[in-house]
Amino acid sequence: MTATVRKAERLEGEVTLPGDKSISHRALILGSLADGWSRVHGLSTGADVQSTANCLRALGAVIEESAVRGFGLDGVRKAGAPLDCGNSGTTMRLLAGILAAQEFVSELTGDESLTRRPMDRVVKPLLEMGAHAQWPPLRVGGHVPLHGIEYEMPVASAQVKSALLLAGLFAEGPTTIIETVRTRDHTELMLRSMGADVRSEGDRVEIRQATMLKPLDIEIPGDLSAASFWLVAAGLVPGSTVVLPGVGVNPTRTAFLDLLRHHGFDIHKSRERHSAGEPVADLEVHASYSDDPLEVAGDTAAEMIDELPILAVAATQLTGRSHISGAAELRVKESDRIAAMAEGLAAMGANITANADGWTIEGPSRLRGAQVRSLGDHRVAMALAVAGLLADGETEIEGAECVNISYPGFFDQLEDLC
Ligand code: S3P
Repeated sequence: MTATVRKAERLEGEVTLPGDKSISHRALILGSLADGWSRVHGLSTGADVQSTANCLRALGAVIEESAVRGFGLDGVRKAGAPLDCGNSGTTMRLLAGILAAQEFVSELTGDESLTRRPMDRVVKPLLEMGAHAQWPPLRVGGHVPLHGIEYEMPVASAQVKSALLLAGLFAEGPTTIIETVRTRDHTELMLRSMGADVRSEGDRVEIRQATMLKPLDIEIPGDLSAASFWLVAAGLVPGSTVVLPGVGVNPTRTAFLDLLRHHGFDIHKSRERHSAGEPVADLEVHASYSDDPLEVAGDTAAEMIDELPILAVAATQLTGRSHISGAAELRVKESDRIAAMAEGLAAMGANITANADGWTIEGPSRLRGAQVRSLGDHRVAMALAVAGLLADGETEIEGAECVNISYPGFFDQLEDLC
């Protein structure tokens, strides 16, 4: 599908966000490991979370719209066929942690993008835990019991950390993960709420073997990474006001929000509350930004890795030379996001250079509508759509249906706001 986006006069309205993708995956996975029925409201309806649900069904879970009947820690069943993780790295890496600790071998597959993404980052520590694991293709399991290890993460990755925490639930002795860069802690929070022995102290997280997990009862917050597109769009399009109720504002996810506010984006947080241990708030954004360029490097880039494509769009409108670096991981996401955003924004008239680990962007540029490619990457498609709201004329985004991976209804909501 090709989506056409026109320059926006202003954006106004309230947006119902999809349920947080990271938390939705974890609710389904951990709900499946629990004994009995979990209540899970507000799951993401995106294709990635559907992939997780389908894999878990193949492993024996019953999954309904807002409920999961777990198979329990000792009830994982061998699937009859390779598990299809679709486009979802989170599905593949987190399930690998559980399946590596089973007596049987499982194979995990996915679409063309996923089969190209690095899995050695989970295979290596799982081998250290005594598991059988190989890649490509990804095959894990068949050699138990695992034993706990102390593992210092070579790349900042919540997916790898979570895979090891899940393997640690089944391992003899404590499993300790050392993170030099803090990543999202949804797995730790959820496991703790289910009675698992998970301790976080400084840069260390430690988990001990568990015999059972209590079921969940949660309301999944709105996805802050999905909200990031509206925060930037409404901040940049003059006269805009957009309200985003019930957004997850876990401090391991808000570095991007802090950066925007630092750059004069007028974002109000209200009704701060908690849902199943996760902080939630309503956000309201009014058009406003200051003119200084962006400087994002090192650990900060890792803390806002999913928001960097939309940040590149923002940088095209700021005055001066913005540098975004420390983000080589973007090259191994659903697409090579560094190349994809440089290609799309350059076609629209931005002055952008792709570097090995980020971009240099000289602004402000008057963007013009163009034909651009999503490269099958949901965050690239949505970031370029926001660029289209700022550009003269029409922007056509090829392969725009990939927004369904995390945000079904994105283009309908975009129209409603204009
Ligand atoms: C995710 C972690 C991040 C992020 C992805 C979701 C998660 O990936 O980019 O969209 O749910 O744990 P990495 O852990 O590979 O950096």
